Amino acid sequence: MLTPVRAHEDDEVLKGDERQNVQPFHPEFTYPIFGEEEMIFGYKNLDVSLEFSSGSLRQHLTISHSAQLSSSATPPDDIEGILYKFIPPDYSKSSEDFDRLVQEDSLKFKPLGEKIGEYSRPAWKAKGKGKGKKTNGAGTTGSSEEGKEGEVKFEMYKTTWNTPGFREYHRRMQIFILFFIEGGSYVHEDEDAWEFITLYERRTRSTGEDTYHFVGYTSVYPFWCYPDSVRLRLSQFVILPPYQQLGHGSALYSTLYQHVLSRPEVAELTVEDPAEAFEDLRDRNDLRWLVEQGVPDDPLFGQIGGTRAERVKWEMGLRKKYKIAQRQFDRLLEMLLLRRLD
Ligand code: ACO
Repeated sequence: MLTPVRAHEDDEVLKGDERQNVQPFHPEFTYPIFGEEEMIFGYKNLDVSLEFSSGSLRQHLTISHSAQLSSSATPPDDIEGILYKFIPPDYSKSSEDFDRLVQEDSLKFKPLGEKIGEYSRPAWKAKGKGKGKKTNGAGTTGSSEEGKEGEVKFEMYKTTWNTPGFREYHRRMQIFILFFIEGGSYVHEDEDAWEFITLYERRTRSTGEDTYHFVGYTSVYPFWCYPDSVRLRLSQFVILPPYQQLGHGSALYSTLYQHVLSRPEVAELTVEDPAEAFEDLRDRNDLRWLVEQGVPDDPLFGQIGGTRAERVKWEMGLRKKYKIAQRQFDRLLEMLLLRRLD
C-alpha cells in the first residue's frame, strides 16, 4: 500500500486511528522491484506499506507479517534490502518520527523551481478516491485543511537538476514511475538536460498559511533538431491515483504544451512510447486546442478550398506553428475530418 499523509491543521501529531489524512492506494506494477512474478517469498500475512509525506515526499516504510520461513537453505526475501535500492536511504521506520516529520514538513515544504501555471477547482471536484491493483502497498499523507470558499488551487513548477534541492526531491518521487508506468524506469541523473514539471494541490489553512501536496509530474528531454532548434521529448507522465480522472493530467499536459509554444527554440513536442491512456489524454487536449484555434473552420481544411499546393503549405505551416510532431499532427487532422463527418 502507498499512502500520502497530510498534517492536521491543529498541528497535533497523528496517532493510530487519528491518521484520517492518510489516502491509501496501491501500486499498479511492482515487477521492476520484486521481479516478473510480482511475488515476495517467505512470509505469511505480509503487509508492506510505504507512506509519503504529501508535500516533501519523505518516506516511512513498515513491513509486517504473522510468520516467516526460517530455513537457511531458502531464506525469505529481504524486502527492505530490495526496496532500499529504489528509495532514498533517509526513509523513516518509526511511526512517531514520521508523524512528527509530516507535521514539520506540512508548513515548511514549498514547491521547488519556477511556477509556470495554476488553476482551481471546486473542492468536491478536486480529488477522487484512491484506486489501483491490490498488491503490496504504497500511499501519501497530508492535512485536513480545506481551501477557501470550497476552492482548491493547483500549481505547476518547472525544475531542472540545477534547481536547488531538486535532485534529492526527484529521488523521492521517481518511484511513482515504477509503480504506475508500464515499462517505466528511472532517468539517468548524469544526463544534464532533463526538465520537469511538478503539479501540487495548494491548500490554505484557516490561519492563512499555504500547504502543498504532490499530485504528479512529467519529465521531458531536449534533443537537437536540425538545423538549429530543439525537439522536446516527453518521457514520463504520472498523476497519483487519488487525483486521476479529474482533469489534472489534462491540466498538466496543457501547461507543458503552452510552455513549449512559448519557447522560441523549441520546434516540437514528441512523446516517448506513450501508454494508451496517455495517448487518449494527448489526443483530447490537442484536438481541443486545434478546435479552439479555428483549424476545422479554415477554408483550406478538409481538402475543400484552395489548390493542393496551398493546402499542403497551410498544413505544414500549422504543424510548425503548433509544434506538433508530424505523425500526431496527421492523426489529429484525420480525427478532425471524422468529427466533421459526424
Ligand atoms: N471530472 C471527471 N472526469 C474528468 C474530468 C473531470 N473534471 N476531467 C477529465 N475527466 C476525464 C476525461 O474525460 C478522461 O476520460 P476518459 O478516460 O474516458 O477519456 C479521464 O478523466 C482522464 O483525463 P484526465 O483526468 O485529464 O487524466 P488523468 O489526470 O487521469 O491522467 C494519466 C491520465 C496520466 C494516464 C493517469 O491516469 C496516470 O498517471 N496513469 C498512470 C501512469 C501512466 O500511465 N502514465 C502515462 C505513461 S505514458 C508516458 O509517460 C509517456
